[in-house]
Amino acid sequence: MPRLAIFASGNGSNAQRIAEYFEGHPSVSIRLILSNNPAAFVLKRAAALGIPSEVFSRNTFYDTGRIPALLRENGIDFIILAGFLWLIPPGILAAFPGRIINIHPALLPKYGGKGMYGMRVHEAVIAAGEPESGITIHHVDECYDEGKIIFQARCPVSPADTPETLAEKIHQLEYRYFAEVVEKIVTSDE
Ligand code: GRF
Repeated sequence: MPRLAIFASGNGSNAQRIAEYFEGHPSVSIRLILSNNPAAFVLKRAAALGIPSEVFSRNTFYDTGRIPALLRENGIDFIILAGFLWLIPPGILAAFPGRIINIHPALLPKYGGKGMYGMRVHEAVIAAGEPESGITIHHVDECYDEGKIIFQARCPVSPADTPETLAEKIHQLEYRYFAEVVEKIVTSDE
């Protein structure tokens, strides 16, 4: 019975989509939503969804055992990063080997790495004249956006696209695939 925690830093539309997908699921449950950002809209979504949430500071995240303890207390098996901007500290990586999954709004290994998040990704894709972009769902390691790729889906980039229209296309791919791919991974060793 896999129990999941979602980490998100901002809006949280993917977090919400995942939570709704697993509502009433026979085995998978979303137990916690955690954020580094006290102003993140994802916290309002968590409250509306009835999912416990917690905000942590940089110091708590990197220099204390609070988050691993919280994950342990809640029996968390997998961590899903849905728009989470901080690097995962070694203690959490070690406690969840192969069990932390991220989504990136481009076709890695291109357009990833430190500072490549949000609109910056879509701006870079358009500036480079790429004919296509997409999403990458991947395992998380100690570097930004470098873990083993699990799944990619693509969409065309047209000359008329702006970073905003491309972001919308990417969101549609995320909503369509992320929860399903997570379901496959977390139920594969049940
Ligand atoms: C998504 O595009 C995701 O790929 C990226 O951050 C964005 C989060 O959007 N990692 P939201 O907060 O889920 O709306």
